[in-house]
Amino acid sequence: MALFVGFIFLFLSPTLACDRCVHKSKAAYFSSDSALSAGACGYGSLALGFNGGHVAAGSSALYREGIGCGGCFQIRCKNTALCSKGGVRVILTDLNKSNETDFVLSSKSFMEMGLKGMGQEVKKLGIVDVEYKRIPCDYKNQNLSVRVEESSQNPHYLAIKFLYQGGQTDIVAVDVAQVGSSSWHYMSRNHGAIWDTNRFPSGPLQFRLVVTSGYDGRWVWAKSILPADWKAGLIYDSGVQIDDIAQEGCFPCDKGDWK
Ligand SMILES: *[C@@H]1O[C@H](CO)[C@@H](O)[C@H](O)[C@H]1NC(C)=O
Ligand SMILES: *[C@@H]1O[C@H](CO)[C@@H](O)[C@H](O)[C@H]1NC(C)=O
Ligand SMILES: *[C@@H]1O[C@H](CO)[C@@H](O)[C@H](O)[C@H]1NC(C)=O
Repeated sequence: MALFVGFIFLFLSPTLACDRCVHKSKAAYFSSDSALSAGACGYGSLALGFNGGHVAAGSSALYREGIGCGGCFQIRCKNTALCSKGGVRVILTDLNKSNETDFVLSSKSFMEMGLKGMGQEVKKLGIVDVEYKRIPCDYKNQNLSVRVEESSQNPHYLAIKFLYQGGQTDIVAVDVAQVGSSSWHYMSRNHGAIWDTNRFPSGPLQFRLVVTSGYDGRWVWAKSILPADWKAGLIYDSGVQIDDIAQEGCFPCDKGDWK
């Protein structure tokens, strides 16, 4: 049971396979960043430290019941008089169910879609037409890390979230075991980026994750993350990083004129 992992992968025709699909939609902004720092992904105020505060709330289709949390996107607005080609790079930290836009950005990120000096003009538009694509998250010199949630109680309940998740992929399964043991226990996605279990061994803990790589799942093994006396509220380095790219199916693919 503990070893069981379910996958649903789409089998895409290679001619439609893409590293990065370009989508057309609309984006708005939050007038207050506190809306984002309390986001549905459960990153809390840590979110504002990601990527220089370039965070965003996504539609249900992007949030994907929490699987989409931590994904990175490049978004540019389409008004060529006001908007830069490169746009802005954001991390998904929240859900916004608005049916008008795919993204609600922090106002800082929204303005940064503008050409130099045009940020305020972009902001005046309120809602803008955008193109966006998923891109790899790049946490320079930073390993994937585990934060033990406040709700955890050693040795009865363990809730964690992953921070600084690199690559352009999803964590689709998480197992935990004592360091050196092969008796794995699966964890469940509680909500957003939070995984939990009340069945886990004592002692120092290792984790293995399944991420989507190409069209397949790949195991990522972090041989030792939590010490036996792990504490709620602390962040632990996993010693590994993820750089996998999950393939998407779309047409047209990214033509690469994004600078
Ligand atoms: C969704 O975004 C809009 C801005 O477009 C904002 O007014 C609204 O409060 C947000 N909803 C939630 C639930 O955060
Ligand atoms: C968006 O949602 C509002 C209220 O939830 C609804 O009145 C409106 O018709 C919806 N618009 C579209 C295009 O679905
Ligand atoms: C990342 O993990 C490696 C071990 O795999 C370690 O040597 C390195 O110091 C870690 N990086 C940081 C920034 O902690």
